Amino acid sequence: MLHELAALLSISLGVVTAVLAFSYFFPRHHNDSTLPYPPGPNVAPDTMPTFDPWAQYQKWGKEYGELVYIRETNTLILNHSHVAIDLLERRARTYSDRPGSPLLDLFGTSSVLSLMRYSPSWRYHRKLFQQSFRQAAVPRFFPAQYSKIHEFLYNLITTPENFMQHSMALSQQLIYTSMYGFDIDPKDPLARKTAEVLRLMGESLLIGAFPLPQRFPWLITMPSWFPGCEFKKEAEKCRSGLKEVDSIPYNKAINNFKNGLATSLIAELATKSKGTPKEIDAIKSMGTISLLAASDTTMSSISSFLLCMCLNPEVQWKGQEELDRVVGGDRLPTFEDRPSLPYVEAIYRETMRLHPPLPLGGPHNSIEDDTYRGYLIPKGCEVIPNIWAMNRDPDIYYEPDKFIPERYLESEKGPFRSINEIYAFGFGRRVCAGRYMGENTVWLAIASVLATVTLGKAKDENGNEIDIPGEFTNSFFRHPKPYKSSIVPRTSIARDLILAAISMKD
Ligand code: HEM
Repeated sequence: MLHELAALLSISLGVVTAVLAFSYFFPRHHNDSTLPYPPGPNVAPDTMPTFDPWAQYQKWGKEYGELVYIRETNTLILNHSHVAIDLLERRARTYSDRPGSPLLDLFGTSSVLSLMRYSPSWRYHRKLFQQSFRQAAVPRFFPAQYSKIHEFLYNLITTPENFMQHSMALSQQLIYTSMYGFDIDPKDPLARKTAEVLRLMGESLLIGAFPLPQRFPWLITMPSWFPGCEFKKEAEKCRSGLKEVDSIPYNKAINNFKNGLATSLIAELATKSKGTPKEIDAIKSMGTISLLAASDTTMSSISSFLLCMCLNPEVQWKGQEELDRVVGGDRLPTFEDRPSLPYVEAIYRETMRLHPPLPLGGPHNSIEDDTYRGYLIPKGCEVIPNIWAMNRDPDIYYEPDKFIPERYLESEKGPFRSINEIYAFGFGRRVCAGRYMGENTVWLAIASVLATVTLGKAKDENGNEIDIPGEFTNSFFRHPKPYKSSIVPRTSIARDLILAAISMKD
């Protein structure tokens, strides 16, 4: 169930980076300007690459240059970070919209913060989000992060074969605990309902799921009994389900708070608010979007780290050595240790560089015609930041396909850099709203795993090491494919530390 939920959750940000139904509604753009469009291939909307698209986009970049424009779909692909910063950050006023569509409106998906158009409503929701997720506010999540990460360590040493599920459980349960103040069992009807709604939301985003309204948008205005309009029933289910998913955990959190059973971020925000329907809806929606946006991204980063340690034992050893020297073997790492652990920091940065969970970030749409380097970038253009390619730019990173944390230690700036330099969190005004929390979770998981367990290749019945192919999923949300590994406590003291941390919770 957790896995099913995971797959569906990935749809939220992952799929929105896809070509979407958008191109059906905004066909080939006409250029009335004297300036040319940027160069690019001729690609029909339904033949855009879907298998490792970021690699194909990178190849087009080598052929066409820094700007790759696909006229048929009005899409601009950016393969270099300096261009992304020029457009998405320095010209954020123009490039902070998202691709909307009547189908998204119908399914209610366009009211989710990460998919919202650049509008007063987006500003309102984003502001509310930032109040709780800005850098100065995120220490409130520390207790939940320690607790869930220690549980994760315990799960790793007790059922190491399920390490992928453990990463997902950590990511999801952390959000439930942080937002609502309670854990959720995957068999809970709420978890099932959430999965159903997310499936429907995902369908509204996927090209081809509803080909008729995508091809004939006027069908959207017809009643659900009209031939070809069955999708309207699905849309209604999605809209009403979304309201339930927004409300059920919210109501439980409020009741727990009122009855003195537990406090939570959501309950505190609701109590402090004036209680207008607009405010309450935004608070409810904040809980849902957190679950949607945080689960897969966090899971992917932690899973990628685990894989990188299995494949790079010398890096793991250096990280362990630094932790032993700085933290000592008699306690688990804490956030206060972070500035004293440059090599662990470099491992974190290198994981986010090589394996961004959303290789194509989130799409930014332009709200007006723009000119850049002598080219016209038309209004309504969907700009795709190819983070995967930016992070493999050979002009910036030597041996870009290799996991080499040392590159940060050798550079002038060192590993402790601004979070703005981690492109995995996106760009400009639409940059990840939960990045400080997400980064803390991933960093603490990395430091805690390195301090307590050793990862490596599993052995077969003859004692031979089982090879790890190191493969990743190739859809718009990217994470390691399942593989076999060995996970054992580093020492008996490390095991005792984990057991002690877990028993302190009870
Ligand atoms: C390692 C963890 C994470 C990664 C790699 C990540 C990555 C991203 C990316 C690439 C975007 C799109 C940015 C853009 O359009 O330029 C995004 C948006 C977003 N993320 Fe995250 N994210 C992570 C964790 C989280 C967490 C923990 C939360 C909240 C609890 C969160 C909430 C959001 C929201 C609300 C948006 C939409 C922002 C908007 O459209 O204005 N993310 N994230």
